[in-house]
Amino acid sequence: MDLFDKVSQAAGKHSPLEEQIRKLPIPVCSVFLGKDGKIRPAVFRETDMVLICRDDRIAEVFKKTISKSGNVVLEAVVADESERVKGKRVAVLFSGGPAAGGHNVLAGVAAALGAGNTFLGIRKGPRGLIKGDLFEINKENIKSIINIGGFDFLGTDRTKIKSGEQFEKVRQTVVTNRLDGLIVIGGDDSNTNAAFMAEYFETEGIDCSVIGIPKTIDGDMAAGSYLPISFGFDTATKIFSELVGNLNQDAASSVKYYHFVKLMGRTASKITLEVALQTKPAVALISEEISEKNMSLDSVVDYIVRIITLRRMSGLNHGVILVPEGLVEFIPEMRQLIAELNKALADYEKDIGDLPSFENKRLFLLPHLTAASAQLMASLPLDLQEMLILDRDDHGNVKVSQIETEKLLIEKIRYRLSEMKRHTDRFFGTGEGQIEATPEQVEDFKKVTLSTQSHFLGYEGRSSKPSKFDAAFTFQLGLAAGSLVLDGKTGYMAAITDFHKGGRVLGLPLAGLITAETRKGKEEFVIKKSLVDLESPSFKIFAQNRDKWAKGDFFSSPGAIQYWGPTSNQIPIIVALDQDYPDFDTFDLGEEKQIVIE
Ligand code: FBP
Repeated sequence: MDLFDKVSQAAGKHSPLEEQIRKLPIPVCSVFLGKDGKIRPAVFRETDMVLICRDDRIAEVFKKTISKSGNVVLEAVVADESERVKGKRVAVLFSGGPAAGGHNVLAGVAAALGAGNTFLGIRKGPRGLIKGDLFEINKENIKSIINIGGFDFLGTDRTKIKSGEQFEKVRQTVVTNRLDGLIVIGGDDSNTNAAFMAEYFETEGIDCSVIGIPKTIDGDMAAGSYLPISFGFDTATKIFSELVGNLNQDAASSVKYYHFVKLMGRTASKITLEVALQTKPAVALISEEISEKNMSLDSVVDYIVRIITLRRMSGLNHGVILVPEGLVEFIPEMRQLIAELNKALADYEKDIGDLPSFENKRLFLLPHLTAASAQLMASLPLDLQEMLILDRDDHGNVKVSQIETEKLLIEKIRYRLSEMKRHTDRFFGTGEGQIEATPEQVEDFKKVTLSTQSHFLGYEGRSSKPSKFDAAFTFQLGLAAGSLVLDGKTGYMAAITDFHKGGRVLGLPLAGLITAETRKGKEEFVIKKSLVDLESPSFKIFAQNRDKWAKGDFFSSPGAIQYWGPTSNQIPIIVALDQDYPDFDTFDLGEEKQIVIE
């Protein structure tokens, strides 16, 4: 075949790299291996670990599932050779944003179900579940998607299942398709859906297990040592770290730009922390710390300006600044403004909905804010004001991915630097908060201008081919979810821990992960997000090193994801540090197998 034919034939098919990756063997935890060395579902036993629910209101809402599970954590064990469940019908859906490895979850579920059970896919997420849009997944399908990125085989969406009518439609889908199990692959909001569906099915006497799978590049669908991270985080942070590493390299080469990089992570700054540990930039903001220290927007700006100025004084006029996507919701005065907007948007939903333009909405809302919030709102650029009053998603979240925080910071930093040039006596000196500098350094400072580039890294990291870690992690999650359904368990989330010593497979009671949160101005019960813990080893190591990274070019450039070779076994640094693993390249989830779906 000549090159022309080769390129034409490859159109619409897998790339050469994907063709190779599809053939990669995947490790399998020992609990999923029979005596014959073949994959088989595990069964689950109760452990002595309980996720205690201290909120009576939550205990009441999830009465049925809690009375069944006792919120006890389950652990997978090897099944008896005789135990092989057959004739079950199990459906799966993706929910929320894509994350690398989703297709391998399907491969894992298919492997657990084996030939004796029927595996169904639900198109376009919870919306497809409500509509009853299902089809049977076959062996050929799994063969074509294994180790391949994206959620495109099924599609996804962000519908929150909340109304009685929606639950009734879900019941119809379950009954019509004779489902014995429903697996929801999603983040905190999607697993909240799963928890409510499990409770609904129990209450209504519908015999269908509901099992959640922890997905999200944000890494906030995690539960300490029971579930150190969600799937997709590793791949996304490797991609972002490659790009940020390249920007660091470019900044140090062309010596003229500050690259402001907003990194996804709607709430938690875990992605930013991981990328910072991998790339060592000049600045990385961590929202959780900013909130803890009660830092205003101006003090965040001052913090960055100080670093830029000190770098200038040591001859550096370039660098990389990482900004977490969710930052605005952690700055106290912004958080207050968003809370007031949420309340006004909820209280006057109909009136605001009827207004024709953004300007009308803005003018309507301003008098419903406190004086301080109205003043802050008016001081923000108009496009940012528009983003803040945009519709929330179905789960009530502000669409922070559309807020250009990095550009807001650049604008404010420019303003502050020009003020400093005009009033050097105010900003330079030996007084509190002033920067010590020689007269020559001050003169030098006045001559240099700030050149910036802004970037938003998020979508590029969600649908890639999974890293070796995510490929293996997701396959085990699929095996675990399929096994939980076949074992008749409901209201659990599949979880894997101990990534460095063969993997420990758990079932976490969903109701035990629920907390109360304010969404769209109202209190709701949702799965608790796992944020950056300021006492964690990963944050402490970052905090110990960041001043050094701020002073010079100490960056590192991790390069592209490796699927083979010496660095291909790396897991997220924050997982290795916070779980006290001896290293971050020791991941071991059992025996490597060529995956054959029966
Ligand atoms: P999930 O929690 O659903 O995985 O999504 C997370 C995320 O990637 C956020 O980081 C981001 O704010 C959001 O999705 C953007 O979503 P959308 O696809 O709706 O723009």
